[in-house]
Amino acid sequence: MAAPIYCNFINGRDAASARGKTFENRNPADTNDLIGLFQDSGPEDARCAVAAAAEAFRTWRNVPAPRRADVLFRAGRILSERKEQLAREMTREMGKVLEEARGDVQEAIDMAFFMAGEGRRLYGQTTPSELPDKFCMTVRMPLGVCALITPWNFPMAIPSWKIFPALVCGDTVVIKPASDTPLSCWNLVHILHEAGAPPGVVNLVTGSGSGVGQPLAADPDVRLVSFTGSTAVGRSVSETCAPAFKHCNLEMGGKNVIIILEDADLDLAVDGCLWGAFGTTGQRCTAASRIVVEEQVYNAFLERLAGRARALRIGNGLDPSVQMGPLINEKQLHSVDEYVRIGQAEGARLVCGGHPLRHGPLASGWFYAPTVFADVDPRMRIAQEEIFGPVVSVIPCRGLDHAIEIGNGVAYGLSSSIYTRDVNAAFRAMREMYTGIFYVNAPTIGAEVHLPFGGTKDTGNGHRESGLAALDQFSEWKSVYVDYSNRLQRAQIDTE
Ligand code: UN1
Repeated sequence: MAAPIYCNFINGRDAASARGKTFENRNPADTNDLIGLFQDSGPEDARCAVAAAAEAFRTWRNVPAPRRADVLFRAGRILSERKEQLAREMTREMGKVLEEARGDVQEAIDMAFFMAGEGRRLYGQTTPSELPDKFCMTVRMPLGVCALITPWNFPMAIPSWKIFPALVCGDTVVIKPASDTPLSCWNLVHILHEAGAPPGVVNLVTGSGSGVGQPLAADPDVRLVSFTGSTAVGRSVSETCAPAFKHCNLEMGGKNVIIILEDADLDLAVDGCLWGAFGTTGQRCTAASRIVVEEQVYNAFLERLAGRARALRIGNGLDPSVQMGPLINEKQLHSVDEYVRIGQAEGARLVCGGHPLRHGPLASGWFYAPTVFADVDPRMRIAQEEIFGPVVSVIPCRGLDHAIEIGNGVAYGLSSSIYTRDVNAAFRAMREMYTGIFYVNAPTIGAEVHLPFGGTKDTGNGHRESGLAALDQFSEWKSVYVDYSNRLQRAQIDTE
């Protein structure tokens, strides 16, 4: 059977790319499995989508917010009804195990309902004036056309973090999903159409960063660019946005740490580290890639973690007995393998893994063995740079202060965690860790949609996604003063 061809979605209609090119979407667990052909679009297609979004904005911005939210409520219901099918399609294109793919769809469902509720809030402030017979309030204004550029590791959740708050705020969007996982975003966009999003409000253009992402970010009709991906690309997005003072929201890398103190429940900590390091094959910005362990329990912890890592069942995520799927593509496999070589050359001790898996049914996918490095010096590159794969560095420490120093000693600041039974230590770590997310007795992954998501330092540029913070990304404040005194009243002057 010929592979299906998926079109761009512009102004409520399917559209082939202007230059008539396509690219392949293949299953990373079995590269013989061709999922479909997607449009390899160019600047003309990006322009067309932005023009449609700009036109749609003229009407959408004044649709009452509770009516805009109705589209989200309906989309949330459709997503719930089709959750299983959507999750299966996601596992097929992305590789994460089915249970996790269901979680990814669930995150979009949660976000749909959370943001739909905001249609009846979008609260501003009313506040007294310093002058008599004068009224002060703040209201949110939509921004206009938003260009959304999303990664492959959460193919539906991350698009939902960006599209849903944008729509409820009254913005219109053009989304460019990652080329490794365009189907899940295509599904989401079509569900929004089915749920009643008017033509032009949500547009999808697939293709490369240079062909579509860059022209979108540079388009004069785009007022906001929201990007999740690597720090290197984020920097260039930021440079593209700067001359026109576009809003630019960047969500980038992480080098997240789990701290384990000697009083921790070690079995609980091992469970958490396994999930934090190897869940989604380590391909989360929030993945735990460093584990800092107090010397007294270092050996006991390491032995248990390595035993569990060796026993993980690797394979096609559609098989319910599989615990860890493949890496996303060949490039990522080479990059992970290269980091393992770097770690060995730096003198870290390879305890398990450290090689691709190519035997039997794994031969046609991008599988890599769960890898644990021990005795890692925190200055080594494997302890400093984001690897985005199933590789974790275990680092010994002398106590809480030392652990915090190591924990904060990287360029990134997304997520961190501590395992301890000592409430004082937990609160001190909570205060001292300079990360946007912090967990106690849980791993570094597992953010919920109603709390802000994002990080400090090279992880972001000061914004947060999710939660109510997302509304601040996708709207602007207008401060309104109504003077009903019938005379000129000068602020700061006529206040006596
Ligand atoms: C990401 O790592 O890119 O907290 C997003 C988590 C998920 C989202 C992760 N809810 O791990």
